[in-house]
Amino acid sequence: MERPVVPVFLCIFFLFYSGKAAGSSTGESNPHRRSQTKGLCAQLIQPSGYPCFEHTVQTKDGYLLALQRVSSRTGDVKVQPGPPVLLQHGLFMAGDAWFLNSMEQSLGFILADQGFDVWVGNVRGTRWSHGHISLSEKDKEFWDWSWQELALYDLAEMINYVNSITNSKIFFVGHSQGTIMALAAFTQSDIVEMVEAAAFLCPISYLGHISAQFVLRMVGMHLDQMILAMGIHQLNFRSDMGVHLLDSLCDGHVDCNNLLTSITETNDSVKDQKAEQSRKDRSSKVLSLPSSDPLLAEGKNCCFNDSLVDFYLEYEPHPSSSKNLNHLFQMIRKGTFAYYDYGMLGNLKRYGQSRPPAFDLAHIPNSLPLWIGYGGNDALADMTDLEQTLKELQSKPELLYLENYGHIDFILSVKAKEDIYNNMTGFFRSWGKSSTY
Ligand SMILES: *[C@@H]1O[C@H](CO)[C@@H](O)[C@H](O)[C@H]1NC(C)=O
Ligand SMILES: *[C@@H]1O[C@H](CO)[C@@H](O)[C@H](O)[C@H]1NC(C)=O
Ligand SMILES: *[C@@H]1O[C@H](CO)[C@@H](O)[C@H](O)[C@H]1NC(C)=O
Repeated sequence: MERPVVPVFLCIFFLFYSGKAAGSSTGESNPHRRSQTKGLCAQLIQPSGYPCFEHTVQTKDGYLLALQRVSSRTGDVKVQPGPPVLLQHGLFMAGDAWFLNSMEQSLGFILADQGFDVWVGNVRGTRWSHGHISLSEKDKEFWDWSWQELALYDLAEMINYVNSITNSKIFFVGHSQGTIMALAAFTQSDIVEMVEAAAFLCPISYLGHISAQFVLRMVGMHLDQMILAMGIHQLNFRSDMGVHLLDSLCDGHVDCNNLLTSITETNDSVKDQKAEQSRKDRSSKVLSLPSSDPLLAEGKNCCFNDSLVDFYLEYEPHPSSSKNLNHLFQMIRKGTFAYYDYGMLGNLKRYGQSRPPAFDLAHIPNSLPLWIGYGGNDALADMTDLEQTLKELQSKPELLYLENYGHIDFILSVKAKEDIYNNMTGFFRSWGKSSTY
């Protein structure tokens, strides 16, 4: 299990983990950043030899989302494509997350090689899905959404699109916030009827029992409301604003001098030194947290390839909205899995009741096969929350527990294929109608 705020920490982790790339995050002209003119296919997937096509989906509220379709390198056009599978990334990530390791290690490539018809989702606000029919990303309305819209508009539209192009029910794989979106969307019968089976990596729905100090501090200081009150609508850790944000986060609550210096430092050799120092120190000093703090265990992803961090930073983190963070923090404060809370009057106006309606997990049909993978080394995880989810679901998901796995291992572990993906594709095969994959 993991928490959507884990990626918040991961961004911070990434930022000081690699002084070099993080330092450039303060400027807009980062030479390490990939150009934004090319799509995900052209930048990351086709260079590895995989056929990849860009599709655009328009949501009900006007966002233009990029969806990539990837197939096997050895794809024989005469052979029927395998069953479609939609990959849905987590918070502060995008579709690139499924392709950052080698072809033998990355889920996107692995599924394509196994004959699946791979579709890659990218939610609004990520760098691949920055379009809107009338709004620009400079408009605050462009950022007026939370995971609720990602579930009911973005995911719904992407599933509908893949379903209509392939004329087939689809398999779904979600990670982190991608599972929150799916659990909310699948309570809607018109969406879930297009899904054959679903796999959740680090599933989230309830967040009420979160225990990590760092997160509770952010929640306790009402960071989400502070950001909104400051008029910040886009959460972009690569912007100057993102650096100020970290500044306010650190100020007086967590001593992150080293962290901030390594981000804002401009001299490369100093940065490299500091990054090296941070690497050495990060488990004891950098955040001045007691070494027993569970958050620090989160940094210990078991199977992470350290030498690729600079490369990962060319892609992550992606922007999200402040309202989204606010919605996630509402869940932590209240322990509910519900629509966005607009306050009593706002709720009456929007929902006709004083409290936001809950997403009822019991509405996910028993007939939908579910698979869940969760890790024991995810400091922000809490069994009580997952148990509540499992209790409310009608169906009994297949569970895969990986004791030494942290949040990001589910995407980036060099051993993920043996540890997780083989089991997951085995699950899909047991439900698929086709035997050609
Ligand atoms: C960066 O810092 C190092 C060590 O302090 C120094 O030797 C070097 O001249 C500096 N480089 C620039 C471009 O300022
Ligand atoms: C880690 O990344 C480096 C650099 O790309 C690569 O040479 C190495 O093979 C990777 N290690 C593993 C275990 O995949
Ligand atoms: C996946 O792992 C679970 C738990 O270890 C096991 O019960 C199940 O048989 C595995 N499924 C496949 C298809 O390997």
